[in-house]
Amino acid sequence: MTAGLALVAVEPPMAALLAEIHGAAFPEQPWSPEAMAGILNSSGGFGWVAALEAAPSGFLLARDLVAEVEILSLAVLPAARRRGLARALLAALARQAGQSGRQRVILEVAEDNAAARAFYAAAGFAEDGRRPGYYRRAGGPPVDALLLSLPLYT
Ligand SMILES: CC(C)(COP(=O)(O)OP(=O)(O)OC[C@H]1O[C@@H](n2cnc3c(N)ncnc32)[C@H](O)[C@@H]1OP(=O)(O)O)[C@@H](O)C(=O)NCCC(=O)NCCS
Repeated sequence: MTAGLALVAVEPPMAALLAEIHGAAFPEQPWSPEAMAGILNSSGGFGWVAALEAAPSGFLLARDLVAEVEILSLAVLPAARRRGLARALLAALARQAGQSGRQRVILEVAEDNAAARAFYAAAGFAEDGRRPGYYRRAGGPPVDALLLSLPLYT
């Protein structure tokens, strides 16, 4: 793992921190602290914050769907990118989900999100389908959501 990187399990009091990181990573689609708290307080919601040199710099939020786990959000601060934070967060998820008998990781990603698509492709995700026009864009046409999955072998 990247030197100086530590993963901490998320807890409901971290909702504001997650919203802050999310807002920096997705300036056009911020999530409120209340929305984050709703996920953290819901049954099956879990995840980790990635701290680089003790500075919270990214997070992964997921929910347990019993047969599979869904990534709800994955975000890394722009200044901390390409240092393996998202890779470490995904590895933690895959390890825990695999040990719990979950069969795959699923998620949706916008077709125009080149960085995220490159990340998930490098991690071994395959495209299973799409939701046409799923993401609305201010001042532009809607963008398809791609449905991706990664099988877990235990
Ligand atoms: C996508 C995102 C989470 C990746 O986070 P990251 O910590 O920079 O990713 P990592 O450093 O762990 O990258 C692991 C590998 O993924 C691939 N990758 C990651 N970002 C990439 C990019 N911008 N272009 C091409 N490949 C990329 C590379 O193979 C990389 O390995 P390398 O750096 O050794 O070449 C980050 O860019 C981000 O927060 N984007 C905005 C929010 C977002 O789109 N989230 C996902 C929504 S579904």
